[in-house]
Amino acid sequence: MIAKYISGCTTWTKCPPAHLPEFAFTGRSNVGKSSLINAMTGINKLAKISSTPGKTQIINHFLIDNNWYLADLPGYGYARISKKTREKWQPMMREYLNRRENLMTTFVLIDSRLEPQKIDLEFIDWLGENSIPLALVFTKADKCSKNELKRNVDSVLKKISENWEELPAHVITSSETGAGIEDLLQFIDGVNRLWVPMA
Ligand code: GTP
Ligand code: MG
Repeated sequence: MIAKYISGCTTWTKCPPAHLPEFAFTGRSNVGKSSLINAMTGINKLAKISSTPGKTQIINHFLIDNNWYLADLPGYGYARISKKTREKWQPMMREYLNRRENLMTTFVLIDSRLEPQKIDLEFIDWLGENSIPLALVFTKADKCSKNELKRNVDSVLKKISENWEELPAHVITSSETGAGIEDLLQFIDGVNRLWVPMA
């Protein structure tokens, strides 16, 4: 896989041209986003090179195989940032997610060690309300037992099904062991086949 860092931007209007399909990665800080991106691309430190933790809230674009964009979004709900910074995340991300025309899927990363978190469920609901296609990626699966994993995944899905008739697709991953990474790439491949290039 060829992965190339393209640019970082603070608003959707400054994103790269929308001529290729795009997949956004989002989730709470520390959920394992950078690790997942590195595991997917097989390039260590790819996601870290461009990250500016806690400072500017930036959308980072990577071009994968000259074929699709991976957009790394700033994490939400970081305990140590101020409420003000957190409030800035919202309009910027919401606008990007609503208006980016080539956005095929927004991946919501969820820490599989945890019970359903309010902030994740609210974000998922918001995506659904805005008809933004999403899929769930459970992270750090290596860190919990099979039983715990099943219990946490099931209870997140159950919570979502309280509000939605259709459940989003989900993949269970570990950046440590590589579990689920191939499934995730196959999911992206499948969605990419639906892409119709703009005239
Ligand atoms: P921020 O960019 O700070 O918001 O975090 P992030 O979501 O990019 O998380 P990051 O990939 O930096 O991972 C956070 C911590 O979790 C690091 O210490 C990682 O080594 C660890 N981690 C991430 N993924 C996994 C995983 O699949 N298994 C295990 N065991 N640890 C992981
Ligand atoms: Mg990161």
